[in-house]
This record gives sequence, structure tokens and C-alpha cells, in this order.
Amino acid sequence: MILIKDGRVVDPASGVDEGLDVVLEDGRVKALGKFPKTEDYQRVIDAKGKIVAPGLVDIHVHFRDPGLTYKEDIATGAAAAAAGGYTTVVCMANTKPVVDSVEVLSELLGRMKQLPIHVLSAAAVTKGLQGKELTDMRALRAAGAAGFTDDGIPIMDSALLFEAMKLAKELDAPISLHEEDPALIAAAGINQGPVSKQLNFGGAPALAEESLVARDCMLALRSGARVDIQHISSGVSVDVVRAMKGLGAGVFAEVTPQHFSLTEQAALERGALAKVNPPLRGEADRYALIRGLKDGTIDFIATDHAPHSPEEKARELAQAPSGMIGLETALALGVTNLVRKGHLTMLQLLEKMTVNPARFYGLDAGTLRAGAPADLVIFDEREKWTVEEDKFRSKSRNSPFTGMELYGKVYCTICGGNVAYEA
Ligand code: DOR
Repeated sequence: MILIKDGRVVDPASGVDEGLDVVLEDGRVKALGKFPKTEDYQRVIDAKGKIVAPGLVDIHVHFRDPGLTYKEDIATGAAAAAAGGYTTVVCMANTKPVVDSVEVLSELLGRMKQLPIHVLSAAAVTKGLQGKELTDMRALRAAGAAGFTDDGIPIMDSALLFEAMKLAKELDAPISLHEEDPALIAAAGINQGPVSKQLNFGGAPALAEESLVARDCMLALRSGARVDIQHISSGVSVDVVRAMKGLGAGVFAEVTPQHFSLTEQAALERGALAKVNPPLRGEADRYALIRGLKDGTIDFIATDHAPHSPEEKARELAQAPSGMIGLETALALGVTNLVRKGHLTMLQLLEKMTVNPARFYGLDAGTLRAGAPADLVIFDEREKWTVEEDKFRSKSRNSPFTGMELYGKVYCTICGGNVAYEA
């Protein structure tokens, strides 16, 4: 048995935000309350002055395994996740080979079971992410696919996507979508606007995202599927999701810490480190994303943790790949830019990082209720720290936040009752 003593327990699923001790036994939460230290406990963790919350759940990460493991692998990805307070993550399918067959998925899931946190995998919607032919979604789901996505690449064939959504509904599986119409993009990764002009870079306009968000909300409404609009970046997209939720569509939206923390200006200061698909946009969009988080239009905070090597990111802007790592800075960015700025309460922030994503994927995770899995994070919301490149557990270093001072430091991450990370 482990006793976590004197922490502030914040558990959005049960609405609890109060000073409580937590007892863990046999990989589960045994009880919450006030308990004296006794010799029955093999370990007592002093959580005084710290928050004790359910382990974070990230439904959008790239661990590059198999095939691109010079950027990340499932072990380093899991270590980065645990250091960031995560106990459950869902990997995207854009690996090499793509996770589009039972064979690739089963091999991967076998290795994922050995890790100190829960690492799940989505499978591709279309074979080879080519957007032409559906994978065997039924067999992939039966083999353990957490959900379906062609993330990184939009699915342009509306009829094929509608078919996939109907199947996903039948299989009770979520389907997650990267929303950017390539026909409207001059050059991906930087917002088409004042900064792209200054950089003489074609850019990706908000319309490329908004047009597909609108289409896919309609497809969700008519298919009844449970759809995740991934890494939403434009204020108009948020308005579309809000309206379509009102019509009863099963649409959910995720936002990344980079999109609610930074604007396109970051490309001027950080170059390719700020290149990401969809791109960082203007201040009005950033604010609209925060409004969407506040009013519940945006359900999840997900990192889109996208590791790339230093050599790749050192290429000139047009050639550098899009994406940034995020697992080890996400919680602190939420604390610093949402909670400390008064936009969200701690309960609201954690709701979007625990129970909401867990429910969307139907996972037994995201709460500290008695009987729940002993997956939790202990962090100090007041502690200030500087993001340092050589401290990342990730194999990659491509963070635009390096050098920044953030609040909110993870002390300990426990998964299944075992310590997965300790500062
Ligand atoms: O910038 C991005 N990079 N956006 C995505 O959706 C995919 C990701 C990647 O895989 O590198």
C-alpha cells in the first residue's frame, strides 16, 4: 500500500478539489480521506503543497515506432510522457510501415504492453494513409486499435470518409481527423498572413482547415460517428464546431498547448521550431481557442507530440518537417497560460487532460475515484522552472518553448500503482 499524504486532490470526474490523502493498493485507488501514517504502508509520499490529479491522458502523440525511431521510440516516448505527468497516450498511425494492418498493429501492441505507462495505438483509416481504400477497420478494432486516424494527412474523399465514419460508429470507435485541404495550401506549417509574407513563405490559410472542419462536422452529424477534430487552430473552426454540437453532431475538438500559447510570431523568433501543421495563427485565433476551451466547445488538450531530429529541423524553413514535441511542457503551459491567466480553473484544465479524453476513448482512466486504476500525477502548480533542451526525456529536442520560464512542475507520476517518473 502507498499513502499519498496531504495533497490537494483535483479530480474533475468527481468534482473533487480538496485537501485529501490517497491510498493505493494492488494497482487501484483504495480510498480518499484522512489517514494516519502507519507501518502498513510500504511508502508514504508527502504531497503537501502539491496537487494530486488523475494521470494525464493524451490522445494525440507520435512515437515514430516502427520505422522512424531515430526521432523517438515507444520507450523514450513513454519516458517523456511519464515525465510530463501522462499515464495514458494514444499513438498516431503515421509510422513506417503505417499501422494499417493487424500484423503491424499486433507487433506494436505487444511491445507497448511492456512499458511503464499505458501506450495505445490508433490504426489508419486508409491503407498507407493514401486516402484511397479503407483499412480492415473491423479486424484492426478486434486486434486492439484504440481508434482510427490518418493524422498528418487529411482524407479528401468525402464518400470514403463517410463510409469510415459509419464503420467507426458500428465499431464504437473514435475517429480523429487532420483538417487541412492541401488544395488551399501554398506551403504548409506557417500561417498564411503577415508573418508568411515577411518570410516570403506561401503559408497555410485558416480556410484550408475551416472548410474541412465544416464538411466533417456534417459527415459526423449524418453518420452518427464520434469524431475528434484534431489540433484545431482557427477561431472560425471553433465557431463551426460549436454550431454543429448544437445540432447534435458527435463532434469533439482538441487543441494543443502550442496553439493556445503561441502565435505565428513564433516563426520569426524560432524559425522551423515553430513550423507545425496546422500552423500557429494570429492572436485573435489564439483567443478564440481559449474561449472555446472555456465554454466547452473544445473538449481536449492534446499535445500532437511530433518529434523530429535536430538535423531535420535545421533545414531551411521550406524543407524542415512540421511538428514539435510537447509531452514534457503541456501541463506547465496549461497552468501558465490558462490557469494562472484566469481563463480556466484547475478543475477545468485537468478535465480536458484527463476525464474528457479518457471518456472519448472509452478508457478506464482519468479519475481518482475509489476503485479506479492507480494512475496519477503529483505536481506543484506554483513552482517555476525553465524549459531546458538537455532535460528532455524525449529523443528529440524540437520544442519552441526551450528557454521559457513556466509554472507547474511534475514531481511524481504513478501508473498502475508503480512510480513511472520521479523528479
Ligand atoms: O506538424 C505536424 N506534424 N502535424 C501533424 O499532424 C503530424 C505531425 C508529424 O507527424 O510530424
